[in-house]
Amino acid sequence: MISMIYACDENGGIGYRNKLPWPHIKEDMVHFMNTTKNKIVVMGSNTWFSLPGAPLKNRINVVLSSKAIDGPDHVLNKSPTEVIEYLQKLYNKEIVIIGGKFLYNVYKDVVDVIYLTEISGKYPADTYMNNFNILEKFEMVEEQEYNNIEIPIKTQKWVRHEKFN
Ligand SMILES: NC(=O)c1ccc[n+]([C@@H]2O[C@H](COP(=O)([O-])OP(=O)(O)OC[C@H]3O[C@@H](n4cnc5c(N)ncnc54)[C@H](OP(=O)(O)O)[C@@H]3O)[C@@H](O)[C@H]2O)c1
Repeated sequence: MISMIYACDENGGIGYRNKLPWPHIKEDMVHFMNTTKNKIVVMGSNTWFSLPGAPLKNRINVVLSSKAIDGPDHVLNKSPTEVIEYLQKLYNKEIVIIGGKFLYNVYKDVVDVIYLTEISGKYPADTYMNNFNILEKFEMVEEQEYNNIEIPIKTQKWVRHEKFN
């Protein structure tokens, strides 16, 4: 299975100066870890460099880049389709696209599932997602609200709707 996971604020903001636009939200980080653990995480080079400097633990870290990068399990300079074929031959695990915008746009038409976190509030951003455009062929099957925290969030699971296939 191929999925993707992202978080956005009320403006659709997902990034600012190659970081997340909002302050640290523990509940969303825990959700991200639980959703991706023991899976293959695929990211673009900008997202890799936005991480604290080490691979994400307990996951197979795959970075797409035309450059040599130290640290990930795989650095691939292949077409989006070749990347999926290559990883599916090597592993029998879910592939999760974890960003950033470039990768979400490339893979949005092939993922089966989207894990979305809605972050309450609006934050300065320079990178945006158009949720309406991304989710139009998906339906929400799960939602969990975290209201009693400093920045309330909703975590959602969307699956590709059969009628669009
Ligand atoms: N809110 C969220 O959930 C979330 C999640 C992740 C990231 N983000 C944010 O998103 C922003 C980064 O997004 P972005 O769109 O700028 O960058 P990105 O998608 O992380 O990386 C794009 C780069 O990856 C490399 N690449 C992509 N596809 C490739 C392929 N098939 N083969 C070889 N190289 C390939 C290219 O760079 P090179 O070839 O030059 O290396 C490309 O410029 C940051 O602000 C980050 O904080 C937000």
